[in-house]
Amino acid sequence: MNIMNVDYSTKIPNNVNLSEDRQVLKALEGWHPGYMNWWGDMGPEGFQQSLVYLRTAYSVDPRGWAKFDYVKMPDYRWGILLAPQEENRVIPFGENFGKPAWQEVPGEHRAMLRRLIVIQGDTEPASVEQQRHLGKTAPSLYDLRNLFQVNVEEGRHLWAMVYLLQKYFGRDGREEADDLLRRRSGDADAPRMLGAFNEATPDWLSFFMFTYFTDRDGKMQLHSLAQSGFDPLSRTCRFMLTEEAHHMFVGETGISRVLQRTVEAMRAAGISDPTDVAKVRALGVIDLPTMQKKLNLHYTLSLDLFGSEVSTNAANAFNAGIKGRYRETQIDDDHQLKNDTYPVLKLVDGVIKRVDEPALTALNMRLRDDYTQDCAKGMLRWNKIISTAGYDFKLTLPNVAFHRQIGEFRDIHATPDGVLIDDATWNKRRNDWLPSTDDGDFIASLMNPVTDIGSYAPWISPPKVGIDNKPGDFEYVKIET
Ligand SMILES: [Fe+2]
Ligand SMILES: [Fe+2]
Repeated sequence: MNIMNVDYSTKIPNNVNLSEDRQVLKALEGWHPGYMNWWGDMGPEGFQQSLVYLRTAYSVDPRGWAKFDYVKMPDYRWGILLAPQEENRVIPFGENFGKPAWQEVPGEHRAMLRRLIVIQGDTEPASVEQQRHLGKTAPSLYDLRNLFQVNVEEGRHLWAMVYLLQKYFGRDGREEADDLLRRRSGDADAPRMLGAFNEATPDWLSFFMFTYFTDRDGKMQLHSLAQSGFDPLSRTCRFMLTEEAHHMFVGETGISRVLQRTVEAMRAAGISDPTDVAKVRALGVIDLPTMQKKLNLHYTLSLDLFGSEVSTNAANAFNAGIKGRYRETQIDDDHQLKNDTYPVLKLVDGVIKRVDEPALTALNMRLRDDYTQDCAKGMLRWNKIISTAGYDFKLTLPNVAFHRQIGEFRDIHATPDGVLIDDATWNKRRNDWLPSTDDGDFIASLMNPVTDIGSYAPWISPPKVGIDNKPGDFEYVKIET
């Protein structure tokens, strides 16, 4: 079989020859109804009978892998797609550096591997749950379509992890696969595993921030797992990254379009001070200080996803050859980090200091630094929009000590500039730095759905280019009435 192309003749599309893997096929077919129930209960609210112009993967060739067509979401062909196997691939890091990559789970690392796959798998349905109410307030059909594209692909990413669990982890794998459908974002009894995935995504600005900042954490995690010595995991993650790029695009361009609209409205009204929040809000657009607050929130929630800066779990996963560094194969060193150090920001005697730690235990910090650098690129584009419009206002990433619940700074308070402050000051200033109830209410007041073809809500600009080279006034969703 041609591994590049996806077999659509079976109930579960795949390029892993499922039709000859009866046991796994049976397990996945057994899991399928539960997935569909989950999608019905926790997937997008409404629009399930609407025709959505979605891309579906038909190949794993990066040069051409997706086909666009109108699909009802429940009919989306969720499938198992792995990047092609690289011949003679070796483990690119850790104690097994240079040995052939594993095609089966190495017994001694089974528990660690399973846990990493479950944690990644848990985030995928979580985001669908978080975003399920947003369809009702979409600013355009174009945005509605993008939301649903992200949602069905996160659903597919769940399938990707479930395939690994069911194929390689026997009965425990099947139990974990069931649990992935049992937990719910924000649920008091059975929450999702990671903090940011239990937060609400109440409005479209949150959605854009989430896809920019939190999906980007996903990108970093997938990159590290794509380096894994466990080859099926590596191949799965490599293909997921192809889809993930669109999610971050939705976030970056979404925020760009909000900023564009805001500065245009400010200019048209002759407003020279971008911090005159009341005046800007009166125009029905989102003011820049509120944009900064939303950014502060989503960036810091996403930083927490990287875990503790210094972590023996991270060291163990690296030593074992299970989870590598961002772009591991492009790094010029011994890939074992035996005597290396890495600077870690820590709280030392009440002061934030850089401390050299063994590079092995500082891998979370390193990945988080790579993430921050990646985040900064979009910031440049956003700030360009503001400065081009003639406004002296800069969006910035807050200091890593600000608003943290995990790691070195979880027990202290700091300003976005990284100045340590006491509880009283924090409580007094919190609403200057993070979205307040008032800010949330204002944004909510703008969230009125726009469903006319080619129309856009007044707080956001139309996109520069449409999806699949279609124009902005294409009927991206045919809403069933
Ligand atoms: Fe995903
Ligand atoms: Fe994503």
